[in-house]
Amino acid sequence: MKVEITETGQLTDIKAGWLVVGVQEDSAETAGLAEPLAAIHSRLRESGDLKGKLAELTVLLDVPEIAAERLIFLGLGKSDSLCSAKLNKALSTAFRHITGKQEASAAIDLGSIQAGSLSADECTQLITTAAEIAGAGQGLYQQEAGRFPITSLNILAEATSPLLETAAQTGQILGSAVNLTREMVDRTAADIYPESFAAKASEVAKEAGLYCEILDQAQLEAEKMGSLLGVAQGSDRPPRVAVLKHLKGGDKPTLALVGKGVTFDSGGLSLKTSEGMKTMKCDMAGAATVLGAMSAIGRLNLPVNVIGYMGLVENMVSGNSYKLGDVLTARNGVTIEVLNTDAEGRLVLADVLSYAADNGADRIIDLATLTGACVVALGEEVTGIFSNNDDWSSQVQAAAKTTGEDAWPMPMFAAFSEQLKSNVADVKNIGTRWGGAITAAKFLEKFVDETPWIHLDIAGPAFASSNSAHREGGGTGCMVRTLVRVAENLA
Ligand code: BES
Ligand code: MN
Ligand code: ZN
Repeated sequence: MKVEITETGQLTDIKAGWLVVGVQEDSAETAGLAEPLAAIHSRLRESGDLKGKLAELTVLLDVPEIAAERLIFLGLGKSDSLCSAKLNKALSTAFRHITGKQEASAAIDLGSIQAGSLSADECTQLITTAAEIAGAGQGLYQQEAGRFPITSLNILAEATSPLLETAAQTGQILGSAVNLTREMVDRTAADIYPESFAAKASEVAKEAGLYCEILDQAQLEAEKMGSLLGVAQGSDRPPRVAVLKHLKGGDKPTLALVGKGVTFDSGGLSLKTSEGMKTMKCDMAGAATVLGAMSAIGRLNLPVNVIGYMGLVENMVSGNSYKLGDVLTARNGVTIEVLNTDAEGRLVLADVLSYAADNGADRIIDLATLTGACVVALGEEVTGIFSNNDDWSSQVQAAAKTTGEDAWPMPMFAAFSEQLKSNVADVKNIGTRWGGAITAAKFLEKFVDETPWIHLDIAGPAFASSNSAHREGGGTGCMVRTLVRVAENLA
C-alpha cells in the first residue's frame, strides 16, 4: 500500500476509487464540507438514511461533480466520546468495505475524521494501520482472493507535516506487524510447525534488523527444559525456542516478551474433542504476537532493549507422548506432576519464562492462548491480565487502553496456588474446574522468580470464529499494538 499525505484542497477534485468522509452522530454540522457534499449530506440526514452512528457506512456511486468514483460517509458516533478503539472500529469497517471486491485506491479526509480528544497524528496512525489490516484476509488457501489490498491511500490533511508523515509510516509498520501475526495464526499446522515457525522468525529478524538465535532440541536438552520437552515428545516435529533481540536501549531495563507457540494442540493423551480441536492451529498465537511485535519494534528502531522468546512445540498423541502421572523437571528444578496433557501451555511457558528471567529480563510479559476458563470469565473479545506486580500491571493496562485493545485485570490470590499442590512432585499442572485461568497464572508465576511479570491470556481474542463488518475472522493480531506501545513507553 502506497501512502501519501496531501493538502486537502477541494474534496470534490480528489481522484480515487473511494473517498471517505467522516460524519458525526450529534452534529448535522456541514460547515466543513464543500458543495455538493454538504447538500448530499443534509439530504441524507433529512431522509433518515444517514445518522452518523459509529461505523455506519453510507455509500454513494458516481456522484455528479465528485471526481472520486465512490463516496463513503463514515459514521463516527458522538464526537466527544470518540476514542482510539471506536475510531479503529469505524475505520476498519470502512476499509473492509473497500477491500472486499477488488484492488482499489482510496482517499480519506483527515479533518472530518478527527474528533474527541484524538490528535491528527493519532488519527493518521489509526488510518494507515486499519487500511493495512483490512487489505489482508484469512483466505490464504483460496484460489480466488476474498480480500484485496488498497493500492494507494491518500490522506487529505489541512497541512502536511513531518509528524503526520511519521505517524502514517508508524501506522503502516504496525498494520504489517499485525498482519504478520494474523498470517502465522491463519496458516495451517501443516505449514506452521516449530521448525518452520523458527525459520520464519529468523527471516523476519533479518528484515527487521533483529539478532536471532534458534535453540534446537539438543540445546533445549542442554538447557534442561524438561517441562517443554515433555510436551514436545509426542510429536514427530522437534521443538524449537526462537529468540529475537533488539538491544538499542543502552542501559535502560530489558523487557522480555514470551509467547506460547503450540503450533497444534490436540490435547495430547487428554485428547480434545473435534469441536475443541478444530481451531487449535491458533495455539501459537502468543508466539506469533511476540514475532509481530518484535518485527515492529525492530523496524521502528525504538531506543529500547526488548528480547522476544517463542516456545515452539506441537502437542500430539503417539506411542511416545508424555503421560498422565509423569513427572517433568523444569529448567529451574521444579518438578511437575502431569495430570492433564491438555494443560500443556503452562508447561511450555514454565521453561521459557525461567530462561527469559535468567537471561537478563528486568520485566516480563508473556502471551498465551492458555485457558478456555479465561474465555468463560471475560468473553471472546477481552484479554485477561495477571501479574505479580501492580505497578507493572498498571503500565501495561494503560498502554492497552491508549491503543484501544480491551484487557482486564484478574486476581492472583495465594489460595489459588493451593490447588496446585501435588503429593508426588512440587506442583501439579492442573487445579479444579473453578478459576482455571487464575490457577494457570499462579502456575506460571512460579517460574519468573521476583521479576515484575505480566501474563496475558489471549485465548478469547486471539482468534475470531467468523468474519464481521469490522474484523476478519481467524487470527486477529490482538495485543501486537499494545506490546509495541509498552516498548515505546520504555523509551
Ligand atoms: N490451548 C488451550 C486453551 C484454549 C482454549 C485456547 C480455547 C483457545 C481457545 C489450552 O492448552 C488448554 O487446552 N487448556 C485447558 C486447560 C485445562 C486442561 C486445565 C482448558 O482450557 O480446557
Ligand atoms: Mn491444551
Ligand atoms: Zn494449548
